Amino acid sequence: MSAAKVLLLIIICAFLEGASLIKPSVSAGESDATLQREIAAVEASVDRNEMAAYASATAVAPGAPGRLAALGKVIFFDKNLSVNRNTACAFCHMPQTGFQGDIEVINKNGVDQPGSVRTRFSARKPPSAAYAALAPPLYYRASSDDFVGGNFWDLRATGRRLRNPAASQAQGSPLNPTEMANREPACVVRRLSQARYRQVFEDVLGPLAFQIHWPADVDALCAVPNSNPSTRIGSEVPGPNQTPYVVKLTPADRSRVTQTFDAMAIAIATFEASPDVSAFSSKFDAYLAGKAKLSAPEQHGLALFNGNGRCIKCHEDEKGDRKPLFTDQTTSNLGVPKNPAMSYYLQTKPDRYGYAADPEGQAFIDKGVGDFLRSPEDVDPAWRPHAASFDGKVRVATVRNVDQRPSPGFVKAYGHNGYFKSLKEIVHFYNTRDTLPRCAAGSPGEKTTCWPAPEVAVNLNKTCCDLGLTDRDENDIVAFMKTLTDGWTSVAPTPATESR
Ligand code: HEC
Ligand code: HEC
Repeated sequence: MSAAKVLLLIIICAFLEGASLIKPSVSAGESDATLQREIAAVEASVDRNEMAAYASATAVAPGAPGRLAALGKVIFFDKNLSVNRNTACAFCHMPQTGFQGDIEVINKNGVDQPGSVRTRFSARKPPSAAYAALAPPLYYRASSDDFVGGNFWDLRATGRRLRNPAASQAQGSPLNPTEMANREPACVVRRLSQARYRQVFEDVLGPLAFQIHWPADVDALCAVPNSNPSTRIGSEVPGPNQTPYVVKLTPADRSRVTQTFDAMAIAIATFEASPDVSAFSSKFDAYLAGKAKLSAPEQHGLALFNGNGRCIKCHEDEKGDRKPLFTDQTTSNLGVPKNPAMSYYLQTKPDRYGYAADPEGQAFIDKGVGDFLRSPEDVDPAWRPHAASFDGKVRVATVRNVDQRPSPGFVKAYGHNGYFKSLKEIVHFYNTRDTLPRCAAGSPGEKTTCWPAPEVAVNLNKTCCDLGLTDRDENDIVAFMKTLTDGWTSVAPTPATESR
């Protein structure tokens, strides 16, 4: 399906939002059928994973190590934790795509996944939920003028309160209006209290976890999507100052909700850091352990990655570990062009709940870390003066599992806005950003013989992107990155979790 068709489809969805609550409701047509089929397939795959996760969580004896991660796994696959009971974390982070988006028709176009309100879309691509849990809590490192650690492309999940960025992150998605869209933490805890794994939760995190006096209207209040505009870029963790609580609770019950919501987040982060998700089981890990040999192109690609390709300058392990994370946990502005196909830009008009994610439409500029530092979120006041010099910078994504996909031809997108549709494209960008001419988006030759202007022209990294590599060099770097897919065995790759 062409980008134009998907755009049209989404415009129709937006138009019909008043009439359709949960699913994009569009006139019958092949493109719609494809999207609907893919969404249904992902939903079914999430359900199968949830059943398996539930079975294994109950099989781990109470008190056994591993039970917290097993609990986190069921939560990760539980779609009931979204306002419309249709969107688990995994919906946007599927194991078979390296814990990224698994709806191919979306990857090929706008890249932003639909949320629990299916006519809402995020501003960015879901990065991998694997290995992110190993990032340190965010801090400012004066020696290199860098922000180090945190989660999310703009680092807004700082991990400052829980000392764990992935746990902060896991409190953001359930409340984000464009993701799971719960109005406040009490709504999420209420759903957890009704989950069939409640017993496991209580065994692991305490028998009082759900001893809460719920008001009679809690379910009705929590069936309405979060539509609070102040959660637009922030960490979405509401507090009385920014986002009023909607469920009326006594102070004691409110404290209990906070504790249980924190415990949920820690369980999810523990799962994400566990070998189930952050497996270190790629061919490259076997190579580092002396148990595998790289082919000639892979070996050459590795040499380029560490040498003339300069990739290692950013995709290096922060601690120089023998199990490298392929990110130095800092941020950079590579000058990635806008992705005009993003559905996010179409959300200019308030939907039936009065929520408009992007009133500016296409004019919206994603300033990444800069805008986070300006936001009313969990920002250390000492960080705010750095905002302008971090405009356009985003988190250095790990390159582990960048090639993990359910089938060889399956399209994944790369970069925070999914502008690149293959590894070859992004490597070609690094090679030629500064040498090829500029062209308008959509011009013939775009991505091969010319590049559109950066979305944010300030604070550009100047050393990444004139590499003088040959076409074969580019291919070899891609070949090397393909060795970073987890689940490798010397015989044949075995996917860690079922694929569909
Ligand atoms: C509707 C899609 C969607 C759902 C559902 C969703 N995410 Fe995400 N996730 C995203 C997007 C988009 C981002 C990037 C957002 C940004 O940076 O602004 C993201 C970012 C992340 C990151 C940050 C990775 C990094 O390197 O910084 C982690 C970890 C993650 N999600 C885990 C989760 C968990 C856990 C849940 C469930 C509690 C969840 N996600 C639910 C779309 C989703
Ligand atoms: C100056 C730091 C820097 C250098 C050098 C660098 N990268 Fe990156 N890389 C980043 C940042 C930052 C991102 C996210 C960029 C964005 O989305 O705007 C990224 C993203 C990526 C992604 C996409 C990951 C995803 O999940 O979307 C791949 C693949 C990648 N880089 C590979 C490479 C390769 C190969 C090289 C060497 C040719 C390289 N990088 C050099 C900083 C760097």
